Amino acid sequence: MSKIAIITGGSRGLGKDMALAIARKGLDVIITYNTLPNAAQEVVAEIEQLGRKATTIPINLLKINSIDVFVAALSEVLATKFEGRKLDFLVNNAGMGGSIPMETATEEQFDEFLNVHFKGVYFLTQKLLPLMNDGGGIVNISTGTTRFVNPGYSLYASMKGAIEVLTRYIAKEYGSRGIRANVVAPGPIETDFNNAAIRNNPMLKERLAGLTPLGRVGNADDVGGVVAFLCTDDAKWVNGQRIEVSGGINI
Ligand SMILES: NC(=O)c1ccc[n+]([C@@H]2O[C@H](COP(=O)([O-])OP(=O)(O)OC[C@H]3O[C@@H](n4cnc5c(N)ncnc54)[C@H](OP(=O)(O)O)[C@@H]3O)[C@@H](O)[C@H]2O)c1
Repeated sequence: MSKIAIITGGSRGLGKDMALAIARKGLDVIITYNTLPNAAQEVVAEIEQLGRKATTIPINLLKINSIDVFVAALSEVLATKFEGRKLDFLVNNAGMGGSIPMETATEEQFDEFLNVHFKGVYFLTQKLLPLMNDGGGIVNISTGTTRFVNPGYSLYASMKGAIEVLTRYIAKEYGSRGIRANVVAPGPIETDFNNAAIRNNPMLKERLAGLTPLGRVGNADDVGGVVAFLCTDDAKWVNGQRIEVSGGINI
């Protein structure tokens, strides 16, 4: 039986590429979306064309109390569409960006970033672990900005820093089940992220490319293959690690 990976935020950007790269490794894939059901359905169709099983379920991580509804829907989907199989890999990828100077950040913005990037990841992972097979893995998507500093990213990067710590705790607490937990930390990637800041701002793009030894910003397909690798036995001894996928920016 094929293994199953679930990727949050698989409707576009990095999550879409991760979903396709994981499907190419021979896994079946469940993706979540928040606002774009049609985009998610197109990703499902692309995965099915690769000969893998796929489906999509909505979740809005701003609303922590919707996680239980999501987990119930997922359990139903596993029972009815995936022959009662359990999950093998969870990729916590969904997220949003925002350039918010600390001076102007509001409590409401703090809570939004907290819910989507940390509290939601924490409780979704806690509630999905019982639905996972032993021997599987978790990949938490962080950011290069936990290592280097971009003014305006204090809220975003602080929450991502929290999931990097959480990842090591998952690795320790679930190691007895053979479950590995790792962080993938992308550098700047040209997606819809942060109102497509890189795509819409050629000067920003050039500046970021100039900070990167490989001389460009990243594309979504620079990251998916690394996440897919972590969802295979080739990575069976990689655990509790932070892998930065950034072209070496700011080294
Ligand atoms: N792009 C970068 O430069 C970069 C760099 C470092 C790290 N990252 C991280 O990589 C991950 C993916 O970013 P991306 O560039 O692929 O962004 P993106 O293109 O904007 O895609 C974001 C994805 O997350 C989903 N999403 C957004 N808000 C959500 C919410 N409240 N609840 C549930 N799902 C939500 C979206 O669903 P819908 O499509 O349905 O709205 C979409 O699938 C994020 O965690 C981000 O922090 C990105």
